Amino acid sequence: MRILFATGNENKIVEAREVLVPLGHSVEGLVINGLRPNFDEPKHLGLDGVAESKIRQAMELIQGSELEGSAILVEDSGIFLDGFPEWPGAESSDVEKEIGLNGIIEKVKESGNSGAEYRAVAILSNENQVWKSKGICRGKISDHPRGSNGFGYDPIFIPEEGDGGTFGELGNEVKNQISHRKKAMLGLSNLLKSPSR
Ligand code: IMP
Repeated sequence: MRILFATGNENKIVEAREVLVPLGHSVEGLVINGLRPNFDEPKHLGLDGVAESKIRQAMELIQGSELEGSAILVEDSGIFLDGFPEWPGAESSDVEKEIGLNGIIEKVKESGNSGAEYRAVAILSNENQVWKSKGICRGKISDHPRGSNGFGYDPIFIPEEGDGGTFGELGNEVKNQISHRKKAMLGLSNLLKSPSR
């Protein structure tokens, strides 16, 4: 299936492509009038609510355009710290900008709980069908940022399924075998083989 991923985050497109292309799909960024879409995100509704809102906005954007009828993918993701209920979650990118990775490390030290998980909610829709899939990657927050691969929180996130390195150190090849995004995309690919919800 030719999938148009509606996101401004090129890293997400690269990661989705690495999972979905070997499964027989193609993944391109959705571009309308030369621009990547910029969605309103109702972050108070959490990842699910934001993803549902993004897919509604994306389908409205392509209505009446030459892309109408295309398969559109959206995804919302974030990191959740065990020491704080449902935080930063859908606010992850804002919190990262506000206090930085060192600010997160300080918060985690104050809470005394380094457990954390990444979560992703992915929704794929074409003309009249919708598929939704979620992925979780468990891990913990490191004492210091390590490595420069990936994006966002990757330099401070140590996945349980890794060798003790952060995603920043492990690199994309390892990340794409175990990440929340990989699990969500793989779930979508499996759902595509069965009738939509
Ligand atoms: P979104 O683009 O609104 O879904 O925001 C996702 C934000 O969550 C990113 O900007 C990061 O702060 C964080 N995040 C989600 N997934 C990842 C990941 O795979 N690595 C690092 N940070 C992530």
